[in-house]
Amino acid sequence: MTDSRISGLYRLDVAERIARLEELGWLAPADAARLREGRCVLSAAAADRMIENVVGVFGLPFAIAPNFIVNGREHIVPLVVEEPSITAGLSAAAALARATGGFEVESDTSLRLGQVHVTDMADADHAVGAVHGAKAALIEAANAVHPRLVERGGGVRDVEVRLFALPDNKPLVAVHVLVDTCDAMGANLVNSICEALAPEIANLCRGRVALRILSNLADRSLFTARVRYALPADECDAIVAANDIALVDPYRATTHNKGVMNGVDALAIATGNDWRAIEAGAHAFAAASGRYQALTRWQVDADGRLVGEIKLPLKVGTVGGTLANNPAAALGLALTGVQNARELAELMAAVGLAQNFAALRALATSGIQAGHMKLHARSVAAAAGAPDGLFDKVVERLIESGDIKAWKASEIIAELKKSDAPQAGFAQAAGKVILLGEHGVVYGRHALAVPIPGAVRVALRAADELSHDLPDAFVACLLEALGTADANVRIDVDSDLPFGKGLGSSAAIAVAVARAFNEHFDLGLDDARINDVAFASEKLAHGVPSGIDNTLSTYARPLLFSRDEELRFDFLDLDHPPPLLIAWGDETGRTSELVAAVRARREAAPEQFDAVFDQMDALARDGAGHLAAGNWTALGAAMNLCHGLLNAIGVSTPGLEHMVTLARQSGAAGAKLTGAGGGGAIVALCPGCINEVDEALRAAGYQTLSLAKEENA
Ligand code: MEV
Repeated sequence: MTDSRISGLYRLDVAERIARLEELGWLAPADAARLREGRCVLSAAAADRMIENVVGVFGLPFAIAPNFIVNGREHIVPLVVEEPSITAGLSAAAALARATGGFEVESDTSLRLGQVHVTDMADADHAVGAVHGAKAALIEAANAVHPRLVERGGGVRDVEVRLFALPDNKPLVAVHVLVDTCDAMGANLVNSICEALAPEIANLCRGRVALRILSNLADRSLFTARVRYALPADECDAIVAANDIALVDPYRATTHNKGVMNGVDALAIATGNDWRAIEAGAHAFAAASGRYQALTRWQVDADGRLVGEIKLPLKVGTVGGTLANNPAAALGLALTGVQNARELAELMAAVGLAQNFAALRALATSGIQAGHMKLHARSVAAAAGAPDGLFDKVVERLIESGDIKAWKASEIIAELKKSDAPQAGFAQAAGKVILLGEHGVVYGRHALAVPIPGAVRVALRAADELSHDLPDAFVACLLEALGTADANVRIDVDSDLPFGKGLGSSAAIAVAVARAFNEHFDLGLDDARINDVAFASEKLAHGVPSGIDNTLSTYARPLLFSRDEELRFDFLDLDHPPPLLIAWGDETGRTSELVAAVRARREAAPEQFDAVFDQMDALARDGAGHLAAGNWTALGAAMNLCHGLLNAIGVSTPGLEHMVTLARQSGAAGAKLTGAGGGGAIVALCPGCINEVDEALRAAGYQTLSLAKEENA
């Protein structure tokens, strides 16, 4: 079973989180692609088929809380919710619960309850007796309504009768039909059974049918979750005391239960379940004693452990309904890893309890605002580019300063970088940006690329064991190639490069890590050997890489390259560094998919495509001369042409076109997509206008990286 522990998720950007989930096996490649490309969002056309008078679709954040163990199973929890701190609180509560085995959840029956209400009876006692007497026949008739449900192992399990007096003292009979709906939420199913039975029930009661519909008080589907926490005694006591308040004061109980439902609802929405039904049932159940109370109980056991329990009515589904219509709900459900509706309800109960623990702990200790502040400080620190190794310190200092602002974060980062010089082993490596000829290079043509110098920095510190925030397989491969598999060090990476945008981030990290180890362990490796080591890890990351990324990263020199049988490079000496600006948005393209798509198009029209690749080849070879001579006008024109050719072979996107247009409108001599396309980054050549181009792209919400530091100084 896949481990659900995923540390440091909050430090990654959205694309990196998707990549991480895919790499760990929580997301299928097709679902990862859907998320990346925004294809999991409900379309307006599909929404129009779901409800009336649709004018669009409405977005909400879709997040995940990792670390859950429920009944011994590993789960991650998809959450659709707009409120900060809920995801962080859940992840932390689940991580802490792992130390004592996670959550245990039990339930007995899981039945949905339908009601037929009958009024206007002359003799209520006769009515109750008649329905009781006809129970077997009613069950048989009800099961005949949905024979396929019976075939699947579900069906009507029981019929019950309740008698009430209406406000005018006339009798009311409520006949309950208890239905096992298997993995479906079963609302329509139960409603149709109620409608089918109603005439016969009215007949038996000698009365009139008033209502025929399910009840959302799902107390025939109760799930009880339990958890134990090992915490300092004062924290345990404070949590128990906070819970006790919600047991006696309905005003507090309402807020307390709202916290529980923060998690339950977010998971219900993410998996396409009817969260209003679950809400209504939970609150009615909270008042079952006659007084509205907390849904949870917290106590301290004989061993000093904090023991929590929640009982929730949960009748949820994993088939049909919204799941069939909303692609995001299907994806959310797949993310949970649950096998059936029972497991989903178990997870939901655990989530309710975990969310309550997170809220009570925060309230009983630092107060809820502190949690919000911390989250805010984290996002400011991340946006200011706080490196992994300093991240927590930056957050701490930001909160202490009381000024949770981007400028303050940058100031703190600069100070910490100075005072926190790496203990042992420090190295940097370059990223890469292709100026001309991508895709043509796959067919033996030339391409021109320049390094992004010093884009990745790696620091090593002595430690008791190996630790890092990189993919384990990637580090293992590197250390094996270096012969340092037993190293006990902390590896901190500080990178200017976004991941997965075609800028050679993984190769640069590999080269910088290899160099830092070379220095720290005195391995005596030269650049050629460092390049080999990085190439080995590139093969792990990309399957069949060209070797360009690691070569550029290692030698950090502009080069013209081509690949027929083997890779050939000509390093270039430049008179002037080109005034380049790189920009990217949220879209990410997958190189392998784009290369395959171009291949398929070329097969359909080989002559036209080869003519395009020949033009790219000429542009790259001429471009090398323009680059070496600092002829920015000619180089820019070549880049513009090359972008047009890349668009012609189908690898541009509206997002890339938008960035390219903005750059050119702001004065760039040339602008084009860089790398495989389909998302990713653009590169703009901006003689004398780099600040204007930078501002225009940033104002439009894109991120940028300048390679002409002196112009920005
Ligand atoms: C906020 O959405 C939820 C809390 O108010 C819950 C609680 O007070 O227990 C923090």
